Amino acid sequence: MPYAQGAVCAAVEPKAFPLRVEQWFKGNARDLPWRRRRTAYGTVVSEFMLQQTQVVRVCDAWQQFLRRFPTISSLARAPEQDVLAAWAGLGYYRRARHLHAASKAMVALHRGHVPRARHELEALPGIGPYCAGAIASIAFGKREAIVDGNVARVIMRVHGRAVNLTKSTGKRWVWRRAQQYVDAADDPSCANEGLMELGATICTPRLPRCEECPLSALCRARRMGSQQRIPAVRSAPKRMRVHRAAILAESAGWMAQCILPPRGLWARLPFPPMEESGRRLSAAMLAARLGIHKSALRCCGSFVFQTSHREVHFVVWRMDARVAQRLRHAGRDGWFWRPVRSVTKAPSTGAVRQILQCGGRLSRSV
Ligand code: ADE
Repeated sequence: MPYAQGAVCAAVEPKAFPLRVEQWFKGNARDLPWRRRRTAYGTVVSEFMLQQTQVVRVCDAWQQFLRRFPTISSLARAPEQDVLAAWAGLGYYRRARHLHAASKAMVALHRGHVPRARHELEALPGIGPYCAGAIASIAFGKREAIVDGNVARVIMRVHGRAVNLTKSTGKRWVWRRAQQYVDAADDPSCANEGLMELGATICTPRLPRCEECPLSALCRARRMGSQQRIPAVRSAPKRMRVHRAAILAESAGWMAQCILPPRGLWARLPFPPMEESGRRLSAAMLAARLGIHKSALRCCGSFVFQTSHREVHFVVWRMDARVAQRLRHAGRDGWFWRPVRSVTKAPSTGAVRQILQCGGRLSRSV
């Protein structure tokens, strides 16, 4: 369907849209931990976690995180490595660092409370227009609009219009509609969270369940039979392919580690030492980079790790124990050594777990 195609049906009745969603949400909300006893801090944590991560993966992590850091000030006081460890398994660790920084700002600027105003929320690290609108409306009942992928899809379908969200005119159109929606709501918290829920569970990208949808009677896309074509499908962005050789070097119960650079993927996280390259490194090329003989390296597995923008091709190499011992005693720039047990027991990223699995250091079920 072409973008911004006008619809031919009657205009959507402004009050009916939020009221139907609110009614539906009251009877159909999923039982999610952060909804059981709503707090502003709990909402902040859930909104940070839910950016780019599915609800099912967030449920346990949210509960553990709140047990570990029950208040904003306890989070603000914690060392960064503890916060990153509590984030293990959720990926996109920049969000954890932002949440940590936001907690410090809330202690410094808002006496350890979550601010209520959109502009104050947007001034905190890691909080953009969507997240600020979600926190202000869900936690404080403010009439603030939210637009994420789910919300935009429901709004476009209800209005029977496929706008291009990569263009500012398209974005502005959806945000205006989202503001009209929340302005007409009885309860902004219920209306906004209900809209996200509807997008996540009923008005899904493929095969929307229109028969169960509380909006089906007023949905223009449904009337026109165009719900599958709204929003218009864009070709997926091409992921950049990169190669990393990970080295498992162990000597007498110690394993080599390094901290990744401050910018880029997995910034500042501990990993087994790695060499990055534009194409796959052979044993001889990797050995040359490490200043050792290629016979000291044995390939023990490979896997591909996908992120939103990259496809990382990992090859895992085990280093001969005698050569590792020599490197440990001689010292090597950027490498440090940790007891193997603490490396394998510590919570870590999915990529590190897969590297350790290749080396037989973790069971397959981890
Ligand atoms: N996605 C982001 N925030 C959400 C929420 N509060 N409920 C459901 N899905 C969400």
